[in-house]
Amino acid sequence: MAETNLYLPYFDKLIQQFSQNNAQTAEIVAAFGRHVHWGYWENPKEADGSVSNFAIAAEELCRRVCDSGNIKDGHSLLDAGCGFGGTIASLNERFHNMSLVGINIDERQLDRAKSEVKAINSNTIEFVQGDACQLPFDDASFDVVLAVECIFHFPSRQRFFQEAKRVLKPGGKLAISDFVPILLSYQVVNFIVKLLMLNSTISETYGNVDSTFTLNTYRQLAQETGFILASQEDITANTLPTYPVVKRLFGQMGGESDEVATAQVELLSQLRLLRYQILSFQSV
Ligand SMILES: C[S@@+](CC[C@H](N)C(=O)[O-])C[C@H]1O[C@@H](n2cnc3c(N)ncnc32)[C@H](O)[C@@H]1O
Repeated sequence: MAETNLYLPYFDKLIQQFSQNNAQTAEIVAAFGRHVHWGYWENPKEADGSVSNFAIAAEELCRRVCDSGNIKDGHSLLDAGCGFGGTIASLNERFHNMSLVGINIDERQLDRAKSEVKAINSNTIEFVQGDACQLPFDDASFDVVLAVECIFHFPSRQRFFQEAKRVLKPGGKLAISDFVPILLSYQVVNFIVKLLMLNSTISETYGNVDSTFTLNTYRQLAQETGFILASQEDITANTLPTYPVVKRLFGQMGGESDEVATAQVELLSQLRLLRYQILSFQSV
């Protein structure tokens, strides 16, 4: 098993909630039992604040990231930071003859993924414990690597890109989603974060998070590690209805400081200082 230094307070709370059996738990499971990421609303004005509406939007976000990876039947795919296996579950339902592998640093999440996600459509599924920055896979073993809303937790984006490059077949695709500060506002974001001590509050809820990687840094990293930036989509406005739902659910779980931390990310996103981006990279 890979060495872990697990600090994911929000997952501790979710997993504790899942072990209970009451009406509140049912709502939390409906919201986060499959995907643990933000939602995508094509028309944000149509968001109704309900958990069922949020779950549909979370599935839609997953599909948009997957689609930026040009996934096809028969592909071999790695989902890095696979959470409870929601992205693998979605691909399993949409595609055939795929070899689907999810890797996660947190064995507890994988226990749920293994019990919830069973292969259909002539696919195979494997969930593996490990660090996305030290992938336990052979060179050139995947057509596509995904990292849905998790790269900010990884110990190093550079090591993850190097590992993704190594395990991808020539010409393979890496598709991710991430909270990316805009170039000009990077200094401003850093200043605000330091001034309001946002990082400490955010880490008390979300664990170790690095959201300082701009689009330019991504372009540079891609070049250094043998990729080109193939597509980029700023979906910040489409994700904003996420925040009221997540804040309300944290409130129900008694996490006042979690509501505050989420409101801080919301503010940075509303001000467009932090942009929710879907990025895809082609191995060259
Ligand atoms: C916000 S969740 C996203 C989960 C999943 N991708 C989804 O969209 O539902 C972040 C995930 O990254 C995982 N993670 C954090 N650090 C990791 C690492 N070094 N290697 C692999 N997974 C990691 C966490 O355990 C968690 O599952």
